[in-house]
Amino acid sequence: MEQEKQNLPHKRRVRYQGTHPRKFEEKYKEHNPQKYADTVEKVIRKGSTPAGMHLPICVQEILDFLQIQPGQKGLDATLGYGGHTRKMLECLQGQGHLYGLDVDPIEIVRTKDRLREAGFGEDIFTAIQENFADIGQIGAQYGPFDLWALAC
Ligand SMILES: C[S@@+](CC[C@H](N)C(=O)[O-])C[C@H]1O[C@@H](n2cnc3c(N)ncnc32)[C@H](O)[C@@H]1O
Repeated sequence: MEQEKQNLPHKRRVRYQGTHPRKFEEKYKEHNPQKYADTVEKVIRKGSTPAGMHLPICVQEILDFLQIQPGQKGLDATLGYGGHTRKMLECLQGQGHLYGLDVDPIEIVRTKDRLREAGFGEDIFTAIQENFADIGQIGAQYGPFDLWALAC
């Protein structure tokens, strides 16, 4: 993947007026958290959500409720940016499997790539582009699940 990125032609960043980018698409540092980690940290410390990111809420409360054990099989019905899923995956300690559902065809690919880069391979995490309204069919195909979450 790194090799593929290196072969991409250089793209100029969006130009903005004034001293700071104001519009969502102009916030080039926030859109590139790996390269500009300090800026992203600063935005989060200020209590804001960096452009293009989602900060998961009530993470510890959800983990306390789920009590995830290594070896379990779980479903996160709203994968989104993957914040909750990532914490749930950490609880598995490399054993078990988590399925992440999302209807958004663009974000699901980005989140899957981010989780793969964070070290969660196909053996432990599967992203499924489905609507949670079809939970019955999803359960029949991938379940049974020991736990599931629908967290925002
Ligand atoms: C607030 S985000 C979830 C945040 C996520 N837990 C995280 O930590 O980043 C909500 C997500 O649910 C997805 N979503 C909304 N309705 C859905 C549905 N009916 N089935 C599956 N996913 C859905 C949206 O596409 C969005 O990505």
